[in-house]
Amino acid sequence: MAGRPSIVAHRGASADAPENTRAAFLLAMEQGADGVELDVHLTADGRLCVIHDHVLDRTTTGTGLVGSKTMAELAGLSAGAWFSSRHAGETVPELADVLSLFPAGAVVNVEIKNGPVWYDGIGSAVAERLSPWKHKLSLIVSSFDHKVLEEVHRREPDLCLGLLYEAVLYDPVGYLRRLPYPVGSLHVWHHLVTSELVHAAHAAGVKVLAYTADREEDVRRLVACGADGIITNAPGAVVRLLRAE
Ligand code: G3P
Ligand code: CA
Repeated sequence: MAGRPSIVAHRGASADAPENTRAAFLLAMEQGADGVELDVHLTADGRLCVIHDHVLDRTTTGTGLVGSKTMAELAGLSAGAWFSSRHAGETVPELADVLSLFPAGAVVNVEIKNGPVWYDGIGSAVAERLSPWKHKLSLIVSSFDHKVLEEVHRREPDLCLGLLYEAVLYDPVGYLRRLPYPVGSLHVWHHLVTSELVHAAHAAGVKVLAYTADREEDVRRLVACGADGIITNAPGAVVRLLRAE
């Protein structure tokens, strides 16, 4: 698992374009990222849409719960006007449309923001949607909801699963061994990544991806720890930094 870490653009190149939009995803690839991270919710008509918050207010011209709208209703909103007038034409993408934007082999880390407590069947919906892409893209399905990953695994056992966590765990590798599905990667708040954690994860055959690191000092520390991936809002800057090393 040695070599330079993968550079994964957090919600796309979200420092330079509105997060979780086509513009942000295309820009991330232009900037040299190895791939992207994106967030999904389930609409009222059972479609997977790409947006971070469970409400529309911060990043769109709409208001209220994402899950109370149909995909057609979301398509009528701007998801870029909040960022700049130049991006006013960006809409909330459907996951199905986003996957075709990426070149073969690109990392696409799909984060399920909320599991069945909010969205019945979202794990199965994600697994079904991603299944045709599993040989073309380097897919990861991640979530802070570790139960929904079991649903993903049942529906599509070939998909790589990433365990997201943001608090100090007593024994992350011991924990993942107890889960009823194989874990491909730990997705760890970057301040919690240590070389000891990376060694323990690698000994268990598991990668470590760190989120969300933008500052040069943080990126350098993660490289020194041996992290396998760096999830960043500023992939262009991280690409330049790692190329210069
Ligand atoms: O995938 C890591 C990171 O995206 C998790 O936090 O809130 O940015 O979705 P958040
Ligand atoms: Ca996310």
